[in-house]
Amino acid sequence: MKDVFKAAKVTDTVYWVGAIDWVVRDFHGYFTSRGTTYNSYLILADKVTLIDASKAAFKDEVLARIASVVDPERIDYVISNHSEPDHTGSLSAVIDTVRPEKVFASKMGVKALRAYYHLEGITAVSDGETLSLGDREVTFVETPMAHWPDSMVTYLGDEELLFSQDIFGMHLASYERFADQLDDAVLDEEAAKYYANILLPLSVSVRKTLEKVAKLNIPLSIIAPDHGPIWRKDTGRVVSAYARWAEQKRTDKAIVVYDTMWGSTERMARAIGEGLAAGGARVRVMPMGSSHRSDVATEILDAGALLAGAPTLNNQMFPSMADALNYLKGLRPKGLIGAAFGSFGWGGGEGSRQIHTILEEMKVELVDESVKANYAPTGEDLKRCYELGLKVAQRLKEKTAGPA
Ligand code: FEO
Repeated sequence: MKDVFKAAKVTDTVYWVGAIDWVVRDFHGYFTSRGTTYNSYLILADKVTLIDASKAAFKDEVLARIASVVDPERIDYVISNHSEPDHTGSLSAVIDTVRPEKVFASKMGVKALRAYYHLEGITAVSDGETLSLGDREVTFVETPMAHWPDSMVTYLGDEELLFSQDIFGMHLASYERFADQLDDAVLDEEAAKYYANILLPLSVSVRKTLEKVAKLNIPLSIIAPDHGPIWRKDTGRVVSAYARWAEQKRTDKAIVVYDTMWGSTERMARAIGEGLAAGGARVRVMPMGSSHRSDVATEILDAGALLAGAPTLNNQMFPSMADALNYLKGLRPKGLIGAAFGSFGWGGGEGSRQIHTILEEMKVELVDESVKANYAPTGEDLKRCYELGLKVAQRLKEKTAGPA
């Protein structure tokens, strides 16, 4: 396999030896429309070192890429920056093949590797600790909850290179290994989607991580994450984007998320969209029959308003909306305004009532009462929807205007 699956040179002494997953479309609920990569890296030093393994199914691909540079048995050290199975599923098998002298992880990583993979004999490293690789050294920085309690990043000082595990990554399969070889619009979209769907609820931890790395006062010439392309030019661009997203700064964008049974709630959504646009908001109308929850999450990343609507089915909100709102609630977006709406046949309109409750639980500032329509919206109902849109747009304007 080493004649087919080759390593890619990152620097003269660091190689990418990861795996490209062109197939994956469901990453625990996140629609990975462009696939992903599981990045592993090889540092050539007196102590040859492997940074992170990969998902279990890609073990042979990773070992083949390593073998295209060095015999895998020459690896002395393995560093596990993060214990989630997309980076550690193959770790046991890699250890069996490589038989390294030592495997390193954070203290929480040691616990996680024991609990999840029943791995023993892992050496714990602490925050700020430096490890000699003989002629070179690496430094560890713990980044708890970015992404898991065990997460840490590893800095290779002589190359000014940060192995950043999930942070600064994206789900994007490509043969291009570097961000500067890819389209900026694709990078911006996928980096934002990754942040919104993986890191948004952990924004406080991301902020602490950024502060911690900034305090180290180290140059970041190269950022090598565990997913997607490597940043080797203008690394400040992705770092600034993270700082912006972690702040959860809201804009004048309003998202109308809904589903419909016989078109009634859809007509309401369209009328709300018209009102929002007439009031000056930038509007995205997202029908859940043809939108994915993870794309809604991406739009929410910088949106200022969330309007959610559903018909009532069997005395419950329509199931696709329950799915979308449950997912969004878990991502803990902060500082949104919004409202609920929906149609119903008999009963009191349980669908929109349940949405109202979820929006309250999400601490969304509710701009007005829910708008409900019995069976099919009348002209008057649609006018109320339009006016709701206008009212939300007005409040959005006030909220995003900032200090005079
Ligand atoms: Fe890519 Fe949190 O694992």
